Amino acid sequence: MMMKPRASRKRNEEQKFNRRGAEAKIYFSTLFGIPVVIKRRDPKRYRIEQLDNALRSSRNRIEARSLLAAAKSNVAVPRIFHAGKYELIMERKKGILMKDAKEITPSEYRQVGKMLAKLHATGITHGDFTPANVMITKEGPMIIDFGLAIFSKDNEERAIDLLLMKRSIGKNYAHFVTGYKSLKEWKSVLKKLEEVEKRGRYHSRKAAKEEG
Ligand SMILES: Nc1ncnc2c1ncn2[C@@H]1O[C@H](COP(=O)(O)OP(=O)(O)OP(=O)(O)O)[C@@H](O)[C@H]1O
Ligand SMILES: [Mg+2]
Repeated sequence: MMMKPRASRKRNEEQKFNRRGAEAKIYFSTLFGIPVVIKRRDPKRYRIEQLDNALRSSRNRIEARSLLAAAKSNVAVPRIFHAGKYELIMERKKGILMKDAKEITPSEYRQVGKMLAKLHATGITHGDFTPANVMITKEGPMIIDFGLAIFSKDNEERAIDLLLMKRSIGKNYAHFVTGYKSLKEWKSVLKKLEEVEKRGRYHSRKAAKEEG
């Protein structure tokens, strides 16, 4: 194989993703030889500075706190190595986003459902629970991107996590729900979900984020 020129090798090592609409910048790097992701929330100039600082630091804090709480409840999430005011350094896992995976097995859908049940039992609602925020790794699914999480046991917040996933995975939702039924209160969450769907209107934190 041809060697890449030095500059581009370097760039590969410290890859920077400038994803459109993304709230944070993601850098791939290493820390003492360990592959890490640096997730940095840079200022958004179009926001009033004080509001912007408050939003960036609160999303960063909620992400760090959720990752710690999820890990404590044995939900597979990246380990945190450092939490600053506006940035996190976390373990970088090899894998593929669920939204890009060619084939996801029923068992993997069930696992993801079970993981959401555990998050909910712990008192975390994710807020953007879609296949774009689940990575399939060789050790199984891993949940990422907790910047819109809320510590809540509210059934409507829980139902919205289910709804976002349901809309993206079609018939595989059946497998996912089988896993989710490990949550003690699963029946009332599903009932709430039906209500939200009938109403056809719900509070999407992601949409609210994009407006702010
Ligand atoms: N721990 C990790 N290991 C490997 N890749 C990761 C990790 N965390 C994030 N990524 C990669 O970076 C991308 C963006 O991360 P994340 O979803 O946390 O950022 P975001 O800016 O909050 O999201 P969005 O793009 O939804 O606005 C992920 O889709 C994934 O490809
Ligand atoms: Mg994301």
